[in-house]
Amino acid sequence: MCGIVAYIGPKQAYPIIIKGLKRLEYRGYDSAGIALIHNDEMNVYKTKGKVADLEESIGKKSIESSLGMGHTRWATHGEPNNANAHPHQSQSGNLAVIHNGIIENYATIKEELVKRGHTFDSDTDTEVLIHLIEDIQVNEGISIDEAVRLALNQVVGAYAIVILVKNEPAKLIAARKGSPLVVGIGTEPGEFFMASDATPIVEYTRDVTYLHDGEIAIVKNGKLSIKTIENVTKTPFIQKLEINLEEIEKGGYPHFMIKEIYEQPKSIYDSIRGRIHPETGKFAMRSMQEYEDKLRNIKRLILIGCGTSWHAALVGEYLFEEYARIPVEVEYASEFRYRNPIIYPDDLVIAISQSGETADTLAAIEMAKEKGATVFGVCNVVGSSIPRMTHAGAYTHAGPEIGVASTKAFTAQVSVLTLMALAVAQIRGTISQERLMLTLSEMENIPHLVEKALQTNDEVIKIAEKFKDSPNFLYLGRGVNFPVALEGALKLKEISYIHAEGYPAAEMKHGPIALIDEAMPVVVIAPKRGMYEKVMSNIQEVKARKGIIIAIVTEGDTKIREMADPVIEIPDTEEALTPLLSTIPLQLLSYHIAVMRGCNVDQPRNLAKSVTVE
Ligand code: G6P
Repeated sequence: MCGIVAYIGPKQAYPIIIKGLKRLEYRGYDSAGIALIHNDEMNVYKTKGKVADLEESIGKKSIESSLGMGHTRWATHGEPNNANAHPHQSQSGNLAVIHNGIIENYATIKEELVKRGHTFDSDTDTEVLIHLIEDIQVNEGISIDEAVRLALNQVVGAYAIVILVKNEPAKLIAARKGSPLVVGIGTEPGEFFMASDATPIVEYTRDVTYLHDGEIAIVKNGKLSIKTIENVTKTPFIQKLEINLEEIEKGGYPHFMIKEIYEQPKSIYDSIRGRIHPETGKFAMRSMQEYEDKLRNIKRLILIGCGTSWHAALVGEYLFEEYARIPVEVEYASEFRYRNPIIYPDDLVIAISQSGETADTLAAIEMAKEKGATVFGVCNVVGSSIPRMTHAGAYTHAGPEIGVASTKAFTAQVSVLTLMALAVAQIRGTISQERLMLTLSEMENIPHLVEKALQTNDEVIKIAEKFKDSPNFLYLGRGVNFPVALEGALKLKEISYIHAEGYPAAEMKHGPIALIDEAMPVVVIAPKRGMYEKVMSNIQEVKARKGIIIAIVTEGDTKIREMADPVIEIPDTEEALTPLLSTIPLQLLSYHIAVMRGCNVDQPRNLAKSVTVE
């Protein structure tokens, strides 16, 4: 939610910042802006719209600079217009800031500042912060660094900020609390990068340090120092970036989303690689081994997440109940955190998140830890907040996911949850060695089966052509494929703006059946294993009302083929693993429909990939 990037060093800052902003556009694209310092002047350019609009609006204006910062916004306070675009400047114009997060007490601070003669150009909380910093600096007669520290002690909320100082052109200040910020240490002397994630940095350096909450990074005269907002000096922990440039480029595909859909054989393989040994039934998962005693005795599992990650949690519920026989609750992180839930010390909470930065999930983890639960994370972004704040967990290794609608992260999450459920089942003795070894070898074969499922693409294109103008869709599934129905509907809504609902197939008769007529496409997930006969009855119920059935069936199925309109075949696998295959044609369907409707599939309206505000 909002992307920030900054550069100081011997190179030209502008191209680095613009390229970086384009990589960060998945975090928001309501407006974009840039500030550049050159010859004691600060040029600030900003505009409503995307980074491409910003470039166009800058045109031939001065972009000469080796120190600058840029921002791409997902609006929280103030509508997306030019005035509310970042960077924002202080009263005198000496300071400029870019910000990702929310300053919750900005209204009270603003009131005070207005009384002291400050005037504001925007409705944002961010402008209030930079005015406050200057106010403290001028009134106390202290350095900007110290004023930033004191101001951050006064604000309540979340932030990743970068500040430029016009009359100190060798300085860059950044700070974080709740929103991510990474500092890249360039290959040339005095060269530094700052960004919301590593994607703008990766082509220039592999050495980075991730700021922790409450830390301020200052680059001054070519040197980086870090201190806390309590004024304690910290030694930067430099680590090597694991992502590659190819992973964050489209590589010949027209959109990131389709590239990521096609990457799933590899992303699933990478998520299970080295972690299972089907021939012996053994696991190599550190968290499982380290917490073996705990896992043997847990009484309840609580799975939390938001959006697509919440759907993965619902699949996880089925997997843990099926294999490990543990009672499971699945919670939206945003509801869980505010409900004063009852948590026991022998509960295990697993937080699922692609980005590792979702504000509601972070807050829910914090609360569960305070109440004494053991918390694991299942995350994709290495070095993000969730892996750092949980007791243990497992990365999904899906590689960077840039398309705003999650695809490969979902199947990677489901893969890792499957391994976790099987490992816990082994520890608790709820699965026979024979079944375990069979399931593990089936799991090892999943990347190959996903490749086959991707071959449905041509068939899916034909279906997309036929139904792209339908105003509504219904998705039905049962058991472990009910969450897949929810995920299929979410994908379609997110990127094509068609209203779609996911429903447990048997629940349809308690309401949605009223919607069914000859114009309503109903996507039914009906694999051979998994309440096949029951789903068939649900299909009959739709057909009896003249609804259109688009069925996802196991290859070779004949019975449903007779009843359904178009049919998409996926390979056969164990019931619990079917979501990894049935999801694929649904992702393709939403993608093709959205493209045919002329929608921006990678950057759907109003959405952002990393939701760092609640
Ligand atoms: C946003 C994204 C979704 C994602 C959700 C949770 O809404 O658009 O794709 O599923 O956030 O994000 P997380 O990073 O926690 O998985």
